[in-house]
Amino acid sequence: MQNILVTGGCGFIGTNFIFYMLSAADYKGRIINVDKLTYAGNPDNLVAAEKKFKERYIFHQADICDARALVDIFDLYAVDAICNFAAESHVDRSIVKPDAFIKTNIEGTFCLLELARQFQHQLELFHHVSTDEVYGSLGRDGHFTEETPYRPNSPYSASKASSDHLVRAYFKTYGLPVTISNCSNNYGPYQFPEKMVPLIILNALEGKPLPVYGKGLNVRDWLYVIDHCQAIWEIMKAGRRGETYNIGGQCEMANIDLVGRICDLLDEIAPRPDAPPRRELIRFVKDRPGHDMRYAIDFSKLTDELGWMPHESFESGIQKTIHWYLDNQAWVELVKSGAHYQRWMKQQYGGG
Ligand code: NAD
Ligand code: TYD
Repeated sequence: MQNILVTGGCGFIGTNFIFYMLSAADYKGRIINVDKLTYAGNPDNLVAAEKKFKERYIFHQADICDARALVDIFDLYAVDAICNFAAESHVDRSIVKPDAFIKTNIEGTFCLLELARQFQHQLELFHHVSTDEVYGSLGRDGHFTEETPYRPNSPYSASKASSDHLVRAYFKTYGLPVTISNCSNNYGPYQFPEKMVPLIILNALEGKPLPVYGKGLNVRDWLYVIDHCQAIWEIMKAGRRGETYNIGGQCEMANIDLVGRICDLLDEIAPRPDAPPRRELIRFVKDRPGHDMRYAIDFSKLTDELGWMPHESFESGIQKTIHWYLDNQAWVELVKSGAHYQRWMKQQYGGG
């Protein structure tokens, strides 16, 4: 792989993946980043990469549903691998307005697959980045394995499940070299602040209410984003074609505990001398419809076959993440001043 087309590279995980590939991974080729720049995509994230890795990093603004634009990019850069991050990714937005999820996550993946088929002669791999949410919800016990039946519960997870099925079908039907990864919840730098972890960090820093859905007992398995990026690259290099790999953090936490830990850490790192502990900012709010109770990942296949394990503990990962948000106020202000963000915060939480 010398010319990897990364889609959605201006979003949270895509940005981290591109930095990882250009500066830390054993990869010396080029990255061609194609992103539509929705509200979640921020081209400023990668300005430093553009400067530092001039020969190895190229950005094109394009929609993955736009086959004509993508054909030109394939031709121009002799693309030999695809890593598909591009998606609408926020469950709550998918509940309010699912249209874009169907368009990008299903039709967009289909469009990319068709393109991959057209260029199959030069293509080494189509890697599809997906989520554990396709498996639905767990009770108190058990873990998702690669054999767990798909039972998506939100328009977001249903659209991702649909795209996974298409990718698998293109392997079976056309022999397209594909791999799929299904990962648990990520946190880390560059995450858009409408998602749980950055939302809580930024609200807590400003002394604003911390909204916890329902009773806060829903459990997620948290993984630091760079660990996810490493796992994807290992799968791209050595994963068996046609296979799915689960990726997880071995870090299950109820939402109320996650929020409590962030509050305690912020009280240490950024104390507010005359204010009460930040835990007092927690507010239980109306639950998300169809809210999945618990996600937990069995990633033993990835460990057994490719030797991958997460490196970052939650303690060290969340500290890095908090420091990143503290050190990148300009990024935060730019994102928060956006009309999309402001409209969403008002609609979802009734504030600004
Ligand atoms: P994100 O919302 O932060 O970024 C998505 C990016 O895709 C944005 O830059 C956006 O502009 C771009 N995009 C959207 N529609 C597009 C289109 N039609 N054409 C081209 N680009 C488009 O999402 P993220 O959190 O970085 O997630 C990336 C991928 O990882 C998604 O496929 C998501 O399902 C998957 N995933 C995310 C998590 C998580 O915790 N965030 C966990 C597991 C899997
Ligand atoms: P989120 O970051 O939206 O990820 P996902 O829904 O894909 O798991 O949310 C993580 C968990 O946090 C999820 O159980 C919903 C919950 N949550 C809240 O309790 N309050 C909030 O304001 C948000 C955004 C999420």
